Amino acid sequence: MTGTLYSGMNSDNPASPDPVAPRPAPPGPETGSPASADTAASADTADFGFRQVPRAAKAGMVRGVFDSVAQRYDVMNDLMSLGVHRAWKQVFVAAMDPRPQYRLLDLAGGTGDISFGWLRRGGGPVLLTDVNANMLAVGRDRAIARGLIGDVALAVADAERLPFPDRCVDRVCIAFGLRNCTDKDAVLAEARRVLRPGGRFFCLEFSRVRVAALTPVYDAWSFQVLPRLGRMVAGDAESYQYLAESIRTFPDQETLAGMMRRAGLARVTVRNLSGGIAAIHSGWRL
Ligand SMILES: C[S@@+](CC[C@H](N)C(=O)[O-])C[C@H]1O[C@@H](n2cnc3c(N)ncnc32)[C@H](O)[C@@H]1O
Repeated sequence: MTGTLYSGMNSDNPASPDPVAPRPAPPGPETGSPASADTAASADTADFGFRQVPRAAKAGMVRGVFDSVAQRYDVMNDLMSLGVHRAWKQVFVAAMDPRPQYRLLDLAGGTGDISFGWLRRGGGPVLLTDVNANMLAVGRDRAIARGLIGDVALAVADAERLPFPDRCVDRVCIAFGLRNCTDKDAVLAEARRVLRPGGRFFCLEFSRVRVAALTPVYDAWSFQVLPRLGRMVAGDAESYQYLAESIRTFPDQETLAGMMRRAGLARVTVRNLSGGIAAIHSGWRL
C-alpha cells in the first residue's frame, strides 16, 4: 500500500470513511505558481462559466456545484455524454501506460473513474484526490464496491497547492478537473513538482471542436439539453448550465499546450477525441 509515501494522506487506513483534510503545501524549492495565463480573467476575477466572479469566490462556487451533483454525478455523466465519456476515459487511461511499478496521483479525481481504470489495466497504487469530500466519499464507496480499496488511498487535496512532497509519483492525471480550478497554471506547476524526473502528466478535458459540422449540434446539446437533463435527473439545472459554460471558456488545445510548456513540462502532445469535443494533453517532466 502506498500509505507511507504521501504526507497529508490517510496513511493509516485508506478505507477510512473520512478522507483526510489537506495541510498547506510545504514551501519546497519547486513550489510556486507563475503568473496566471488565464486569459479571460483579470488578476482579481475568475471565470465561472460565462460570468466573471471575484477570484477568491470561485473555489467555493465550484464546491457548491459538486456538492450539489455528487450523488448523481455518475449517472449524469452517462446521460450527458450518451456514455461516450467512458470511451474517452478508456483511451485516456491506456495513454498513461499503466504499469505495476508506477504510482498514480489522480487530481480532481472525484468519484474515481480514472483511478479505477488505471488499476483495472494493471497500474500501481493510486492516490485519488479531490478538493470536494462529497465527491471523494462517492469514490470511496465505489472503490469498496469494486474490491479496489486496498490499492487506492484517498485524500482531500486542492490541486492548486498539493500537500505532497517533490518528485513522489510517476504519473499525475487530471480528468475534467482543470477547467474547474481557479489558477490552472498553479495546477500545472504543482503537477510537475510532484512528478519524478521521467514521469508524465496527463490531462483529459473538454476542448475546442475542430469539425465545423459538429458545432451546432454540440451547442444545442450543451445549452438546451444539458440544463434540462440536470433539472430532471439531478434537480439542478444551474450546475449543468455552469458545466456547459465552463467548457466554452476553457483554453483551447494550443493554449493549454503552451501553458503546460510554460509550467516546465516537455514533449507536450495533444490528441483530439470526438473531433475535439475533448482532448488529451500530455507532457513529461525531464
Ligand atoms: C467533472 S469532475 C471530474 C471527476 C473525475 N475526474 C472524472 O473524470 O469523472 C471535476 C472535479 O474537480 C474537482 N475540483 C474542482 N476544483 C478542484 C481543485 N482546485 N482541486 C482539486 N479538485 C478540484 C471537483 O470537486 C470535481 O470532483
